[in-house]
Order: sequence, then structure tokens, then C-alpha cells
Amino acid sequence: MEVVICESPERIGALAADAITALVAATPTAVLGLATGSSPMSTYAELARRCSSGELSLAGVTAFLLDEYVGLPPGHPQSYRRVIDRELVAHVDLDPARVHAPDGDASDLPAAAAAYERAIAAAGGVDLQLLGVGADGHIGFNEPGSSLASRTRIKSLTDRTRADNARFFGGDPQAVPRHCLTQGIGTIMAARHIVLLAMGPGKAPAVRQLVEGSVTAMCPASTLQLHPHVSVLIDESAAAHLQLASYYRQTYAAKPAWQGL
Ligand code: GLP
Repeated sequence: MEVVICESPERIGALAADAITALVAATPTAVLGLATGSSPMSTYAELARRCSSGELSLAGVTAFLLDEYVGLPPGHPQSYRRVIDRELVAHVDLDPARVHAPDGDASDLPAAAAAYERAIAAAGGVDLQLLGVGADGHIGFNEPGSSLASRTRIKSLTDRTRADNARFFGGDPQAVPRHCLTQGIGTIMAARHIVLLAMGPGKAPAVRQLVEGSVTAMCPASTLQLHPHVSVLIDESAAAHLQLASYYRQTYAAKPAWQGL
């Protein structure tokens, strides 16, 4: 893992956008894994800026979302497909037809999950996966206790995640769907490069556990320690519990590995 401690969310967004820009320069038809939530917003803002200035084109890129709620009516503003359209697709030259999300409205959810796995495989797998992390260490919607080998499937959300996400549903945890379709931990681990973004003091315990704790299903993000190429881009407050923070600063701050370290 390379752990890059940044001075601001904007710096995190710039570094993540650098990784995507380098990937797309080398492979214009690259496959991106996209995350929703607040953590990738500075990355999406920077991608939008680069696309509108002509520095970057995502026209040849295919994208797969990590997860989707089950049971929201089609077009619900908080469905992750709608969120990514609003936050990213509308501001860049990604072809909406090449942006995929699990079908949380399918009548046969296991079949939809299997179809999603097949679609990712048919696209050649994910080159770069953007990830946030839940305060409890979840990635995608793989809650604590998830199988570390899991693939896309139905999951039930914990009360904590529903409370955390209530802010998007008028503050009411009961309005947050109980179930979702999410890429599994095994699915996420198959991406060739994983870029995890975390900011704010609320993420400090999860960041400590995922970077320096034991690999355990109780912190699904800790599985990333077994991946050969993970970049953890965090701000100072999310880094606050890390024992080796000064080592990470010396090693990674100036020159992240994807820039040739
Ligand atoms: C949700 C999403 C995750 C996301 C997490 C953290 O539960 N399913 O993909 O990483 O929240 O969100 P945020 O970035 O808003 O803190």
C-alpha cells in the first residue's frame, strides 16, 4: 500500500485524477470503477475541470459502479446511477451508455448480480477502482462480516450505514433502503489498481484499521492489504490514528508510486 497524506481534499482529487489521466493516456479505452459518496467528489470535480479544458477525454472509457440500492423506484434521485450521472457523467465526456450500475430494480436480483459480474469480465476487468470507505470499514456495501472472497450479490445494510446515509434521505434512517446490490470484496480485489480516498476525522479509525490493523472481515477494507497495488489518499485528519504517519509522509508525499517511485 502507498499511503499519501495530503493537505486538502483538492490535493487528493488532483492525485486521483493524475492516476486516471495517466491510465487513459496509455489506454484510452480503460475501464474505471466508480464510487459514490462524498469522498470522490474532489476527484470528480478535477476530472470535470480537465475534460472541459481539453486536458483529458473519457470518451473511450467504460465505467462500472460499485453498488446500488435495492428497491428505489426507477429514476429516484438517490439511486447511485442517478447520483453518478449528476456528479460526474453530466460534467465529462463519458458516454452514458458505457456507464454501468448493478440493477437494483431487477425482479431477479441474483441474476442481475451474476449479469453484472459477467459484464465486468466481458469488459476485460477494472483497470482502476476508486473507493471510499465507510466509518465501519466497509467498501462498496460490503458490511463487516462480509466474505473476503465475495462477488456481486445482495447485501443487507447495517443500522450504522443506514444512519450514516440518512443525510441523503431527508435525515431519516428508515427511509434508507435496507438492501443493496454490491460488488463483492473479491470483485473489488480483482481491479488492477485500487485508489482509496478518505477524508475527515470520522474516517480515522477505519483508516488505521485498514492500513495498519489485522486483515479481518470485521473491517472489509483491510483486505486491501493483500492487493499488490493500492493507493490510499487521505487528509491529515483521516491520518490522525496512523502509527507510521511520519514514515508515510517521508516515503510517499513527494512522489507517489504511480509517478515513478
Ligand atoms: C456508502 C457507499 C460507499 C462509500 C461509503 C462512504 O456506504 N456505498 O461506496 O464509500 O458510503 O461514503 P462517503 O464517501 O460519503 O463517506
